[in-house]
Formats: sequence, C-alpha cells, structure tokens
Amino acid sequence: MKLKAIKETFHKALDVIYGKEEVSSFFYLLIESYCHFTRLKLALEPEKTISKAEEELLLQALNRLKEQEPIQYIIGETEFYGLPFKVNKNTLIPRPETEELVEWVIASRKKNTPLTILDIGTGTGCIAISLAKNLPNATVYALDVSAKAIEKAKENAALNDVEVEFIEADILKEKSWNLKFSNLKFDIIVSNPPYVRNLEKQEMSTNVLANEPHIALFVEDNNPLQFYSAITTFAIANLKPKGELYFEINEYLGKEMIALLQENNFENIELKQDIFGKDRMLKGIKK
Ligand SMILES: C[S@@+](CC[C@H](N)C(=O)[O-])C[C@H]1O[C@@H](n2cnc3c(N)ncnc32)[C@H](O)[C@@H]1O
Repeated sequence: MKLKAIKETFHKALDVIYGKEEVSSFFYLLIESYCHFTRLKLALEPEKTISKAEEELLLQALNRLKEQEPIQYIIGETEFYGLPFKVNKNTLIPRPETEELVEWVIASRKKNTPLTILDIGTGTGCIAISLAKNLPNATVYALDVSAKAIEKAKENAALNDVEVEFIEADILKEKSWNLKFSNLKFDIIVSNPPYVRNLEKQEMSTNVLANEPHIALFVEDNNPLQFYSAITTFAIANLKPKGELYFEINEYLGKEMIALLQENNFENIELKQDIFGKDRMLKGIKK
C-alpha cells in the first residue's frame, strides 16, 4: 500500500480527535519508527509503498491512537533533555517541567566537581541519566519501588551510555531503605515523586488517566505531602552537611512545601516557577 494512502486513512479517522497538524506529526513519527522513512523522504518519494507488515503496524498504531493512547507508549520512546528514553506502561512519560528541574541542578554545579547524586522515584531514569550525562564527575544512584520501572531505566542508562546504580526500595518504608543506604552520603538528592491529589483528577486529560501508571502520579487528598515528608526525613539522614535537596512539586502546594523544609531546618530555601509561571520546583540546603 502507498504511504500517502495510509496517511489519508489516518487523517480521516483521527483529525476529529486530535486536529490535522497533530495527526500529521504522529504519522511522521510512526513512519520514522516503523519504516525508517522520514517526512522529507516522503515529500521526495510521494509514491512510496510499504510492506504488508509495516502497513499492519501502522494500522495497529492508528487503532491505539483512536483509543487516545499516548504516542510515546505506541512508539515506545520519547525525548528528554535532548536524550532518547524508552518508555512503557510501567513508566511515567517524562514531562518538560522535569527538564527544568534537571537544568536547575546542572546550572548550580561546577561541571567538573566530583559529587554523589541520588534520584528518588526514577521511573524511566530520565533525571538520573540526564544528570549523569551532563555532570561527568558525578556518581549517580537512582531508586524506585517499581522493579519494572527500574528494568526500563537500566535499558535507558545503557542506551545513553552512562553508569547509574539502580536501587529497588520503598521510600515510604524506612526499613526498606535504611540498610541499603547505611554507608552512602549524598551531595544532592533530587526527586519528582507522586504528587497529584485525587481531587485534581478532573483537571487531567483522559489519556493520562487511562494510560499512565497511577503509582507514579497519585497521592491521597488527606496526605498530599506524604512522599515529600518521607524524602525529607531520608535527606536529613543521608545528605552530607550542606547537601542540596531538589524537588519537583505540585503547583498548588508551594507554601506547604516551603513550610516542610523550614520545619526540618533546611536553609536557603528557594521556590522556582516553571515556564508557565507555576510554582514547580523547590530547593533547600541541609544545615
Ligand atoms: C512522578 S513519577 C517520576 C518519574 C521520573 N522521575 C520522572 O520525572 O519522569 C514518580 C515515581 O516514583 C515511583 N514511586 C512511587 N511510589 C514509590 C515509593 N513508595 N518508593 C519509591 N518510589 C516510588 C514511581 O514508580 C514513579 O516512577
């Protein structure tokens, strides 16, 4: 079948859901991934035909897009901080806000200083791996409760040619982490933990709710800082003196987050907005 005929089929089925431009960009991503054929090549070879197997893959992707499955899960890959990351249903799709957190950590360091970093709730490993790639003298550790997420993160470390030590542990259970970390002290702890309250579900798109792992996203309405409190306790025990704690936070809970770090005697607390002007990142220094 000709690629241009399949493209028409995509537009007929999907333009009403996503709009013409987004459908075109999905189509180009898919032909690149499945047929190794770029948008430019298609413009130069408009009569290009593809194999039955490739056609089948594209039509399966079309059906998944009809069900509003994120394109990143269909292709199995996305980009974060200029690097490729494999994703699947066990890993949150990395978000652009989180790139800003990574940027903040990198900007605050001298590139060649040796340091030890821990990323808590690593998912795809996007934070840990981007830091390892950009801070070549850093020794990077990353922790997650999900063995399946860690499996993907290990693949991503290999894909990006960096060394990260992955640890399976539950940050909410002190017994699960205190043995594993008894001999380690960190210069930096960074985390983008679950922070969406159930009451915020109505603001979220159905494709996020139906497809992304709830364990990566949600916290109870009556305990929205559960992960931040646990990580702060962990940081008190495991950061070096003057060590830095960085969080991505819920945009509605900036004040509460500042209070949490103040109560725990962190200094030089800074709240930072993302490019949309929302309170999104917080940093504090251990005394
Ligand atoms: C918001 S996602 C962040 C993923 C990734 N760091 C990113 O920024 O895209 C939160 C991560 O925390 C992990 N997580 C959830 N509960 C946890 C727990 N009790 N202990 C450790 N990690 C946990 C989830 O598996 C998920 O990978």
